Amino acid sequence: MSNDLNEAAVRAARAVNGERLWASLMHLALFGARPDGGVDRHALSANDIAARSWVIETAQGLGFEVSVDDAANLWIRRKGNRTDAAPVIVGSHIDSQPAGGKFDGALGVLAGLEGLRALDEAGISTDRPIDVVAWTNEEGGRFERSCTGSSVWSGAMELEDYLDDIGADGARLGDALASTLAATPDLPRRPRRFPAHAYLELHIEQGPVLENEGLEIGAVTAIQGIRWMNVEISGHGGHAGTTPMADRRDAFQAAHRAVAQLNASMADPKDVLRFTVGRFNVMPNSPSVIPERVQFTIDLRHPDKALLDERARCITPTVEAAAAPCIASISPILFMDPMPFPEEMIAGIEATANQLGHRARRLPSGAFHDALYPALVCPSGMIFVPCRGGLSHHPDEWAEPRHCHAGARVLTAKAAKLAGA
Ligand code: GLV
Ligand code: MN
Ligand code: MN
Repeated sequence: MSNDLNEAAVRAARAVNGERLWASLMHLALFGARPDGGVDRHALSANDIAARSWVIETAQGLGFEVSVDDAANLWIRRKGNRTDAAPVIVGSHIDSQPAGGKFDGALGVLAGLEGLRALDEAGISTDRPIDVVAWTNEEGGRFERSCTGSSVWSGAMELEDYLDDIGADGARLGDALASTLAATPDLPRRPRRFPAHAYLELHIEQGPVLENEGLEIGAVTAIQGIRWMNVEISGHGGHAGTTPMADRRDAFQAAHRAVAQLNASMADPKDVLRFTVGRFNVMPNSPSVIPERVQFTIDLRHPDKALLDERARCITPTVEAAAAPCIASISPILFMDPMPFPEEMIAGIEATANQLGHRARRLPSGAFHDALYPALVCPSGMIFVPCRGGLSHHPDEWAEPRHCHAGARVLTAKAAKLAGA
């Protein structure tokens, strides 16, 4: 395995303080803390705004420049020797699922900040600036179209296309965004887009591979593709006690048939395809009323684009046929193709981990991440650390302090190297 790091990058990794990183993770988890130990920090919510304020104060207190862009992506800069040079960006997100954990997203942002502190303390200057970013709405738990901030920054989407999105709580994204930006009126505004030298994201694996193999670091090879859809089934409402069964157009029963049929068509003997119905709303949702309308989401994922497209194409005919005589309408929410990371990034992360004494392997990501979008515009890579039982998007999500520390060391060393330490 070749050596990826110079002496300064190794010193930067040594200066990363695992206890301080852990304390910051536990502190951030207080914003939106749930009684079951999880976190509920929907994008652009009051909890998200409070968490952002704490991150801003912490970063400013350490002397870093903090700014925000029109999509409310939060930027923390450690200057480089060349002020005009494109930065190395490290980051992730601090919004969470409604019953999320303490690590999904938070680790990547706080480890980035810990890395900036480590560079300061080790007295290491870099040629390029290093920016830590907390992207807006990665999760899509409130506003369904996820990775809002990173997709706008990369130019893949226009911010204006998101503004009228309505969240699960009825809020309009444009209004929630305006309230979030209004909470920090003094922050300088970054341009919506600017060139970047490279992007790195540290994240918990959210799957069981590293833990099962007793490894500390994953060098992510690719993010599998995803298709999210909304299905709406319309039937006829009516009295549950009096309407003869033969005359009914029960939207729930139609949706039930559709999901059963989809389960059959999505079966994959290799267990690579992922098919999930994660949200299911019955209207009017009363025990004595025949459901008039049902809305549910489909989350379909596979690493192979051709196979993903083939399975996605069969969703509309399958649902329409199974739901008849009810009427089904299927609309796309989010389509992301599989994203391979460049070989030099994967190899560099693997070599960095090995050089720092961490056991590592390559692996693909089952979850999507903001890194999908920076990867469109600059060389990008992802670093995984294990999480207990592979569990994530759950209050019991857990990563060991030593694994968070190892991930932050690899992130810091690799970022320092890319920035010209
Ligand atoms: C990201 O949060 C995902 O659902 O993969
Ligand atoms: Mn995440
Ligand atoms: Mn997540």
